[in-house]
Amino acid sequence: MTAKPGWHLPFSICLPWASVSPDYNNPIARMMFFVTSSSQLISCGAALANLIIAMRYFGYAPAIEIGSCPDKPQLLARVRLETGMPATLEEQRLFHAISSRRTNRQPFEKRPLPALLLSDFEEMARQEGVRLQFVQEENDRYALASLTATGDRLLWANEQFRQEIAAWTRPVESHASDGVPAYALGRGDMVSYLGPLKIRTFMDQGKEKQGQHAAIYSPVFAILWTFADTWFDWLAAGQALEKVLLRAAAEKVWAAFFSQPVEITTLRKEISTNLGQSDVPQLIFGLGYGAQALPTPRRSVSEVLI
Ligand SMILES: Cc1cc2nc3c(=O)[nH]c(=O)nc-3n(C[C@H](O)[C@H](O)[C@H](O)COP(=O)(O)O)c2cc1C
Repeated sequence: MTAKPGWHLPFSICLPWASVSPDYNNPIARMMFFVTSSSQLISCGAALANLIIAMRYFGYAPAIEIGSCPDKPQLLARVRLETGMPATLEEQRLFHAISSRRTNRQPFEKRPLPALLLSDFEEMARQEGVRLQFVQEENDRYALASLTATGDRLLWANEQFRQEIAAWTRPVESHASDGVPAYALGRGDMVSYLGPLKIRTFMDQGKEKQGQHAAIYSPVFAILWTFADTWFDWLAAGQALEKVLLRAAAEKVWAAFFSQPVEITTLRKEISTNLGQSDVPQLIFGLGYGAQALPTPRRSVSEVLI
């Protein structure tokens, strides 16, 4: 019942990385992770947030135990269903936004977001023990845009990275139940059709410019910071991220991500230095109004239950 919404999450590339295993006799879900990077664990955090929101929607009180057992290092969380109060209006809104939330890589409108909504986002992050910063100063935005472009250039110059992206990019006409279809990448038809081939062969110049443009012109350009850099922080960042994205989706606000500079250690340090922060940047993303984005495919729930 709750696993399906749990699965409509934003995720970083190269999956599968997580499974939810339900035990109906003793209603408990275990979330296992098979991940290698912080961004994959952030994705697990997003999945956990969806699971909890779905449980609340159905009137359960989720009892969460975070942490791995020494004998089961891949155990991320154990979630038990307990009888709870009916869902609040806010919880219902977040639940209904699960299926409408999508990454939108098209340019956003210039229209600003309401200040009240921005402070809601900040508060949601705070409640998960992480910090959301909106980068307003033009100089800071340009500096981040430049780091995003550098990150793109370094990543795309790496053959292994290109192969990985190519392996997960699907042609527009594909019926695959996983990966990222080329139509979701926000580029012209020709590039979409050529997607995987082009990526394997060349450095994708279009992507670099796309990221740089979005970094400068997104009405809201946000950084999610954590106070430390453990898997526990990544999980919290993922939960905060998903709540913010769902709150945004409920207001028809889209998000687009720029993880390039946080994936390269030297650039990651530069983000903190440029912005005069001692915390750890986990994810950079833009928010704004814009044209509808199409949903991307997901594997069926039965394929991910273990
Ligand atoms: C931690 C994290 C990092 C991501 N980084 C990027 C990124 O650098 N570029 C990008 O285009 N999308 C990025 N994404 C978005 C995913 O590609 C997207 O969530 C996934 O393809 C599923 O599509 P959906 O969000 O529309 O459901 C990221 C998502 C997460 C959770």
